[in-house]
Amino acid sequence: MRGKFITFEGIDGAGKSSHVEATVARVRAASREVVQTREPGGTALSEKIRALFLRDTMTPTTELLLVFAARREHLETVIWPALARGAWVICDRFTDATVAYQAAGRGLSRQTVDALAALVHPNFAPDLTLWFDVSPATAAARLASGRAEKDRFEAEQIAFFSRVRSGYAALAAAEPTRIQRLDGEAAFETVARDVDALISAALAR
Ligand code: TYD
Repeated sequence: MRGKFITFEGIDGAGKSSHVEATVARVRAASREVVQTREPGGTALSEKIRALFLRDTMTPTTELLLVFAARREHLETVIWPALARGAWVICDRFTDATVAYQAAGRGLSRQTVDALAALVHPNFAPDLTLWFDVSPATAAARLASGRAEKDRFEAEQIAFFSRVRSGYAALAAAEPTRIQRLDGEAAFETVARDVDALISAALAR
């Protein structure tokens, strides 16, 4: 049986990373093979692209093309083979991030992003997406108290993250079954419980 593809999304500072770890442990405990990965990244080449993507100055369209190049390599060499052998793939970000960051955030056309998605992964989408929704102000406070060196995205202003958040909100409104919103403002334990309930339901399906 094909495995499930589960993605984690949210603006920078939404607090998704620790929930990714817990989810991986939860699915492994159910005796499923789990591949934990991230975007951009997840292969040697895609991680090189990630380093450029996060650090180098580039135009928005270059950014868009790089992230989709990294994605295709990741899909063909890691994600699709894993799903085919029945593994679950838990991925930190996927194409919803491109709609949110490059279309809503940077102002590129949604149609262009959708056309590239159709080229790079025709008829393929996550089975379940957990969207950690926090206000840009909360996210900024978390980022400020965390790691010292910020990448190109983390260094963006509140207005940018407001647009990215609206991008995620529009996606979630259009696909309310696939994309589950979690209240990232809630206490960590509360969010963890909600994540666990969604993953348990997915395991039972
Ligand atoms: P992130 O997933 O937040 O990792 P970390 O926790 O290590 O900082 O960093 C990835 C960044 O890349 C994030 O700022 C969002 C951005 N990004 C896009 O702009 N578009 C995309 O399609 C993807 C996958 C990520």
